[in-house]
Amino acid sequence: MDKFDIIKSLLEENRSIRRFDFSKKIEYSTLKDLVELTRFCASGRNLQPLRYRIVSSEKECKAIFPYLAWAGYYKDWDGPEEKERPAAYLIQCLDTDLIPDCLCDDGLQLEAITLGATALGIRGCIIKSFNMQKISEALHIQQRFKPRYVLALGYPVEKATIVDLDSEGDIRYFRDSEQTQCVPKRSIDELLI
Ligand SMILES: Cc1cc2nc3c(=O)[nH]c(=O)nc-3n(C[C@H](O)[C@H](O)[C@H](O)COP(=O)(O)O)c2cc1C
Repeated sequence: MDKFDIIKSLLEENRSIRRFDFSKKIEYSTLKDLVELTRFCASGRNLQPLRYRIVSSEKECKAIFPYLAWAGYYKDWDGPEEKERPAAYLIQCLDTDLIPDCLCDDGLQLEAITLGATALGIRGCIIKSFNMQKISEALHIQQRFKPRYVLALGYPVEKATIVDLDSEGDIRYFRDSEQTQCVPKRSIDELLI
């Protein structure tokens, strides 16, 4: 495969996964390697204002889980059951001593991390709906570091695939009869104006 095809296939595989094998832990060194990928990302003014808190102990994973909101489109699903919870999390924080806000540094870095994770057989879910205050407290994160995103990580026990939008153009993801997560993505023709 040439480099373009490798990137394309990693991007395609890099779906949001919300059910994991909780018993299959991710090494601390692997989590650190994933964070290291962010060093190679572009950064507005090259300020590099983002920091990461690695959460990998069972105790801390348990402590933050109640403050996360999962899959807004699944009204009758409160998130993964205990044995299918993420094995680790990365809390992406902004160092507010450097800058009060950042441009797209956060998204670029999350993509780099999730692509790296995908290459290792790990999957993740980027979470924006979380209780920042409670998570900061539970993890004793200093006030200067403002959590922007929580990235849940683990070895997947569910499958996810991209599908075309239906005739009504519904973009809501859904689980099919085999419990595969189906994610409608717009066609290339729709993206071009
Ligand atoms: C900025 C952003 C915020 C998100 N927040 C949440 C969230 O709070 N909870 C959740 O379960 N998924 C969250 N997601 C995952 C999206 O639901 C997911 O990316 C989308 O459904 C498309 O699926 P895909 O990632 O497999 O392409 C978020 C994704 C992004 C990019």
